[in-house]
Amino acid sequence: MQRKDLLGLYDLSREEIELILNTAQPMKDIIQRDIKKVPTLRGKALVTVFYENSTRTRTSFEIAGKYLSADTVNLGVSTSSVQKGESLRDTIKTLEVMGFDVMIIRHSMSGTPHYIARNTKMSVINAGDGTNEHPTQALLDLFTIREHKGHLDGLKVAIVGDILHSRVARSNIYGLKKFGCEVRVVGPATLLPPGLDRLGVKWYYSLEEALQGVDVINVLRIQRERQQVGFFPSLDEYANLYMLRPEHLHLAKKDVLVLHPGPMNRGVEISSQIADGVQAVINEQVTNGVAVRMAILYLMMGGIRDEIAG
Ligand code: CP
Repeated sequence: MQRKDLLGLYDLSREEIELILNTAQPMKDIIQRDIKKVPTLRGKALVTVFYENSTRTRTSFEIAGKYLSADTVNLGVSTSSVQKGESLRDTIKTLEVMGFDVMIIRHSMSGTPHYIARNTKMSVINAGDGTNEHPTQALLDLFTIREHKGHLDGLKVAIVGDILHSRVARSNIYGLKKFGCEVRVVGPATLLPPGLDRLGVKWYYSLEEALQGVDVINVLRIQRERQQVGFFPSLDEYANLYMLRPEHLHLAKKDVLVLHPGPMNRGVEISSQIADGVQAVINEQVTNGVAVRMAILYLMMGGIRDEIAG
């Protein structure tokens, strides 16, 4: 891949997305082997720097790097010199001069990875910036959908819930639109951002209407940490109108897939019957997240092709 950085799906081409998804397939084969290690990134080093909490993204980048034999380090921001007042710029420079090849960054401010990318020689991978983008989540979602449906072209996809605060929604929309998907977003009016027409999506306030005939339902977490004012009267009220329940699945196609990026608020945006049901692919998304992140590291860090075969 001819890119120094991976910052968002907005500026990835369809061909680049397909290259990542196609490369993730042999990576998934590797993580299903007994010995999950190939030497392809031997001698390369990556650092994860998360200014916001994470279970899936940080851990899966770390294990993805280890499976490919890269040296991986996590900077624990809450125990680092950031707490002594060190600036972001000085922190980046410090990591750069230690010799890291790639920095994987999550930050609450939209645009932080873009700023870092302009100010370092390291490759920068966006692991979620504010409400802007979460490209690796969308790529693993696309991989999971394609694995089940055989293709992405023209699928009808409903994204449900807190669209306003969701970087996952934005990255999914950018990616799905590149495959000609019909993307519908649904939620209370207060959680739908302005400018949806410019993104080429349809918007709904009724969950029942939005789910008619869809191939995929992607349920989003209610991001209480980003909601300083009340966007709906209560969680109970939200759940009454927008929590995905078994009766909703009859409105969609028979083979509908249910995705959730995690972490889930069970009983708020998704019922446990759905989360643990046969239509849900939430655990597969997590496994695929490792494969997709291996593919991204391999493509960006110049892995050796022969070493991922067999
Ligand atoms: N989906 C996702 O980004 O999960 P984490 O916050 O656990 O990384």
